[in-house]
Amino acid sequence: MIKDIQERILRLKKEKDVCILAHCYQTHDILEVADFVGDSFGLAQKAQQTANKTVMMCGVRFMAETVKILCPEKTVLLPEPDAGCPMAEQLDKEMLSQLKEKYPDYAVVAYINTTAELKTLCDVCVTSSSAPKIIKRMDEDKILFIPDRNLGGYIAKQCPDKEIVTVHGCCPTHAKMTKHDVETAKSAHPDALLLVHPECETGVVALADFVGSTTEIMDFAKQSDRTEFIIGTENSIVQHLGIDCPDKKFYPLSKDFVCHNMQLTKLASVLHCLEGAGGEEITMDEKTRLSAKACIDKMLELGNE
Ligand code: 13P
Ligand code: SF4
Repeated sequence: MIKDIQERILRLKKEKDVCILAHCYQTHDILEVADFVGDSFGLAQKAQQTANKTVMMCGVRFMAETVKILCPEKTVLLPEPDAGCPMAEQLDKEMLSQLKEKYPDYAVVAYINTTAELKTLCDVCVTSSSAPKIIKRMDEDKILFIPDRNLGGYIAKQCPDKEIVTVHGCCPTHAKMTKHDVETAKSAHPDALLLVHPECETGVVALADFVGSTTEIMDFAKQSDRTEFIIGTENSIVQHLGIDCPDKKFYPLSKDFVCHNMQLTKLASVLHCLEGAGGEEITMDEKTRLSAKACIDKMLELGNE
């Protein structure tokens, strides 16, 4: 059944000249039909490079918006219109304008998990994998970082020469994890290394053996000569690593580590979207696109240096 749906997807994407991009949090059956799988930074780079006329983003809305911002001439599809990122919607333009008034001489750095609208008011965009590198390379020393207080705190530790102000946003999925979850997982698996995403609370990050983006976590586990790992990010990563590294053991930090928005997109959603029976085409007015693009261009410029 799954193989049958995958074959129909592969046939249709070729016929319709569609490039399928999938974030690592998608299920394995979706990764198998994707042209590129990656973290937010890798997806933004691929969006720029792909030659196909249409790009389908299997992930959440801000990721599809990023593709549209970078590729206005392409048709950009989000297979599940309800797949949003709650963190990306925590601040609106009015709230950010007030913050900018409060911190007038600070450069505004936005995590890529923000809406296109919010990006129009920001100076530089970053992803979890590119953030410390980009912020170190910025000329400005005073940074207002939005919206994830946890990633902001992690960056502040990596960039001690910068003065970083954070706001009270967070990822509801990562912020749910506690030191108690770490203690429970470590006592059940005392030989395992703990790998966490920097969206986790500072107290959880402090106990980690490795901190990185989704692809950085997967690369670390694959390349390590250790054989057991507790995965401190969305549980799809436990699934992918288990399939990719059958000789190693991967344990979820918690069975509740699930981003329900990411999991809204199913293999069937991809098929229906290709058939024209579901999904949404992302549209954006040119003024919003151009002013949101400036901070993503800056990220790609500083990140690719
Ligand atoms: P990555 O940049 O690590 O892919 O993170 C995206 C995300 O939404 C994590 O929750
Ligand atoms: Fe957004 Fe958190 Fe889901 Fe990532 S895991 S998409 S930050 S809600």
